[in-house]
Amino acid sequence: MSHYLIVGGSSGIGLALTEILSQQGHSITAISRTSNALDGLANVTHYPCDISTNNPEFAKVKSHIDGLAYLPGTITLKPFSQLKIEDYQNDFNVNVLGAVKVIKQYLPQLLETENGSIVLMSSVAAGKGFPMHCSISAAKNAVTGFMRGLASEYAPKLRVNAVAPSLTETPLTSSLLDSEAKKEGSAKKHPMKRVGNPNDIAEMIAFLLSSKSRWMTGQLIGVDGGISTL
Ligand SMILES: NC(=O)c1ccc[n+]([C@@H]2O[C@H](COP(=O)([O-])OP(=O)(O)OC[C@H]3O[C@@H](n4cnc5c(N)ncnc54)[C@H](OP(=O)(O)O)[C@@H]3O)[C@@H](O)[C@H]2O)c1
Repeated sequence: MSHYLIVGGSSGIGLALTEILSQQGHSITAISRTSNALDGLANVTHYPCDISTNNPEFAKVKSHIDGLAYLPGTITLKPFSQLKIEDYQNDFNVNVLGAVKVIKQYLPQLLETENGSIVLMSSVAAGKGFPMHCSISAAKNAVTGFMRGLASEYAPKLRVNAVAPSLTETPLTSSLLDSEAKKEGSAKKHPMKRVGNPNDIAEMIAFLLSSKSRWMTGQLIGVDGGISTL
């Protein structure tokens, strides 16, 4: 059984991932600001931490770490004319710098294992242009660039990949899917005729964390109902 560090395991895709790994019998260290949703899950230890601060107070994790997934993200959808510099700074801070801080903190323990794996979260909006996505698209493309640089530096010791979901029903996207009309409209845009659910994405992250993906590194994997390519 493996030990995974899940940052942002308390909601949405990260919660689905924590549930999958817990059911598989792995031990999980979960980091997020809140933890209510994790109550009762087996083998999960939660540490509160806000990764958006300049110097987050990270938990001292004593054992090795087999895999790290970084889930915190933002959704700042506004026309370019209404996006403020602060919006870009906040999107970059949470999506990119948070991951940098976490990886800097836990890299030594990741390097203690034979097949360490890091999974980051990009977005379908990194590879395809959508209106109102200038800020989040810039941040998610930065995640992809960071992922490839890190993967290159640490191969073959450590694998680094990223997942690019399309619209998935989570607390983050609740305002985009809070009526049947909105859900139907979004579903129709996807070749698979539905939006994603957290497990669709979490299953891919669990695969990338595991040694089943041992020959994969530096990859951006779309889990998007086909919208990025069809
Ligand atoms: N849902 C989608 O449609 C979609 C599409 C494309 C990409 N993505 C990406 O997928 C990832 C997960 O999205 P999601 O929809 O599952 O989001 P979510 O439901 O908002 O979950 C985000 C998780 O990150 C944690 N988090 C957020 N800010 C944090 C902070 N400052 N410090 C510590 N933890 C923090 C949250 O926990 P606390 O609030 O307890 O801190 C929560 O556990 C994100 O990177 C998102 O950009 C999602």
